[in-house]
Amino acid sequence: MVENSTLEFLKTRRSVLARNMEEPGPSADVLREILTAATRVPDHGKLAPWRLVVLQEEARATLGKIAADALAGQAVDKSVDAYASSAAQFLRAPCVIAVLACPKAHPKIPRSEMILSAGAVCMTLLTAAQSLGFAAQWLTGDVAYESAVLQCLGGHAGDEIAGFIYIGTPTQAPSERARPALDDVVQFGLAP
Ligand SMILES: Cc1cc2nc3c(=O)[nH]c(=O)nc-3n(C[C@H](O)[C@H](O)[C@H](O)COP(=O)(O)O)c2cc1C
Repeated sequence: MVENSTLEFLKTRRSVLARNMEEPGPSADVLREILTAATRVPDHGKLAPWRLVVLQEEARATLGKIAADALAGQAVDKSVDAYASSAAQFLRAPCVIAVLACPKAHPKIPRSEMILSAGAVCMTLLTAAQSLGFAAQWLTGDVAYESAVLQCLGGHAGDEIAGFIYIGTPTQAPSERARPALDDVVQFGLAP
C-alpha cells in the first residue's frame, strides 16, 4: 500500500454544505496562498482563461440582491421567503470565490479545454481550502446562469461562471458520500 499524506487527503476529503459553514473564513494571507495554488492549474497554451472574483463582506449581499432580482422574473415561487433566501445565498459562507471561465479565440486550442482549465481552478480552490481544514463547497445553481450576475462579476459575453467556491469554518463534520465503484467507471485498455 502506498503511504502518502496528499493521497490520503485526496482519498478522504469531503465538501461541507454551504449551510453548515460559519465565520471565520481564511485570513488575507491564507486566502492568497489558496489563490496562488488555484492559479497554478494545467492550462493549455498558458492562456489563463479564467478570472477569480473574491466575494467577502458586503459584496456577498450586493451580489445576492442582483441574483435574486434576476431570478425573481422567472421564478415559479414568487414568495417573499424565496426572494429572501435567494438574496442571502452568498451570506452562507464568509468567503465565496466566483470562478469565471473566460475562453479566448485561439487557432489550435479548443474552447472546451479552457472551460476544463477553469474547472481545475475550482477543484484546486476546493482542495487547497479543505487541506487547511476549512469547509468548502463548489456550487453553481440557477444563479450561475444569469447574465446580470456574470456582468456584475466583470464577465463578458462568451464567459461562463464555472462555479462559486464557498469557504468557511465547518459547523459540523460531513457524513461520508457514496462514491462510484472503480469498476463502474474505470476501464483498462480499449473497448472490446
Ligand atoms: C460544477 C459543479 C456544480 C455544482 N453545483 C451544485 C449546486 O448548485 N448545488 C448542490 O447542492 N451541489 C452542487 N454541486 C455538488 C457539490 O459541490 C459537491 O460535489 C458535493 O457536495 C460532494 O462533494 P465532495 O465530493 O467534495 O464531498 C456541484 C458540483 C459541481 C462539480
